[in-house]
Amino acid sequence: MLSLLCAVVMVFYVPLPPGFENMSPFPLPYFDDYGDDDDQNLPVPEIDHEEWFEEQLEADLKWSFALNGVLHAETSEFQDIVLLDTKRFGKALVIDGKLQSAEKDEFIYSECLVHPALLIHDNPKTVFIMGGSQGSTAREALKHKDLEKVVMCDIDKVLVDFCRLHLTANEEAYRDERLQIAINDAKEELEKSEEKYDVIIGDLADPIEGGTCNHLYTKSFYQQVLKPRLKDHGIFVTQGGPAGILSHKQIFTSIYNTIKQVFKYVIAYTAHIPSYADSWGWVLASDEELKLDVEELKVKIKERMKGDLYYLDGDSIFSSTVLNKTVSTALVNETHVFTEEDARFVYGHGLTAANSSTT
Ligand SMILES: *[C@@H]1O[C@H](CO)[C@@H](O)[C@H](O)[C@H]1NC(C)=O
Ligand SMILES: *[C@@H]1O[C@H](CO)[C@@H](O)[C@H](O)[C@H]1NC(C)=O
Ligand SMILES: *[C@@H]1O[C@H](CO)[C@@H](O)[C@H](O)[C@H]1NC(C)=O
Repeated sequence: MLSLLCAVVMVFYVPLPPGFENMSPFPLPYFDDYGDDDDQNLPVPEIDHEEWFEEQLEADLKWSFALNGVLHAETSEFQDIVLLDTKRFGKALVIDGKLQSAEKDEFIYSECLVHPALLIHDNPKTVFIMGGSQGSTAREALKHKDLEKVVMCDIDKVLVDFCRLHLTANEEAYRDERLQIAINDAKEELEKSEEKYDVIIGDLADPIEGGTCNHLYTKSFYQQVLKPRLKDHGIFVTQGGPAGILSHKQIFTSIYNTIKQVFKYVIAYTAHIPSYADSWGWVLASDEELKLDVEELKVKIKERMKGDLYYLDGDSIFSSTVLNKTVSTALVNETHVFTEEDARFVYGHGLTAANSSTT
C-alpha cells in the first residue's frame, strides 16, 4: 500500500503554491553552497519585514527567520506541520512550532545521529529508526554499503508522506530497496515482533508537554522494550536535545543519565547546529565496550561507506565526544531519570496539550 502510494507520488508533478511556480521541485542538494569561499560575497537578501517565522525557544527567547514564503501547512492527528522557505536556511520543517530541520544544515544533525553508532559497531546489518519521518536519517544509514535492512518507524503517516513529497533531497533513499517504512508507534512496533537489530536509532522530537514520543525516552521503555530488541554487541543512539552551555540541563543530562541506568557503556557527544541557534546532543550506548579509535574510524569510513560525509570524519567523531567541563560535569552529576511519572520537557507543547494554542 505504502509503496504503491510512493509510486503515485513520484509520477505526478507537485504543483507549487502561488508565487513559487519558478522554484525547482528538485532543489540543489542541501549542502550546495556550504563553505564556499564566495559565501561572503553573496548579496544581502532583501528582507520583506512582513514575512518572518518566529520560533519561541524559551518563555523569554525567540528566534526569527525571514521567509520567502510558507510552502505548505497541514495538521495531522498528532502534530502541526509547516514547511517554510527561509531565506537563510532553505526549506525548513517546523512541527508544533519548533524547527526540526533545515535544508542548509540538517546534514550536521543527520550525520551525527547515524554514523558514530554505525561506525563503532563491528559489522552492522540491520537498523531500526524510531521516528525519522524526514527521511534524512534513513538516507545517512543507507550510505553504509553492508547494511541489509533499515526500518524507519514513524507514528504519523501524514508527516511521513508530507516529508517524502517536499524534502526532495531524500528521494534516493526512498528508492533504496533496503528501506522499509512502518507507520506505528515505535514502542508498539518493537513489541510486536521478536526481531532484533544491530543498531537502534532514536530520531524523535524532543520530549515536550503533550508530545507524541515522551514515552520513548523513559527508563522502562529502554529497559523493557528497546534493549531486548538489540542483538549482541548492539548499539543504541538517540538524539538528546539542546546541549548548549545554557540549555544542556533541560533534557540532555537527564537523557544521558537515564540511559546510563540501562546500558553499561554510554557516550554523550555534541555539535553546533546554526539553524537551532544552539549546540545539540546525542547519546550512544551499549553493553559492549565502545571503542573510539580515530584511525579505525577513518578506515571504516573509507571501506564501508558509499557517498560522502560533509560534517564528520574520524577526528571529528572523536572530538565531538570531548565536552567542556561545564557540560561534562553536569552529565556526570545529573540524578534525574525519565519515568512515566517524572519527565522533563523542553519549552513548548504538542497538539495534545493545552489544545493547540500554537498558532
Ligand atoms: C561547552 O560544551 C557544550 C557542549 O558541547 C557546547 O554547546 C558549548 O558551546 C561549549 N561551550 C563553549 C564556550 O564552547
Ligand atoms: C557536581 O557534583 C559535585 C559533587 O557533588 C559538586 O561538588 C559540583 O559542584 C557539581 N557540579 C555541578 C556543575 O553541578
Ligand atoms: C480544547 O479547548 C476548548 C476551548 O478552550 C476546551 O473547551 C476543550 O475542553 C479543550 N479540549 C481539550 C482536549 O483539552
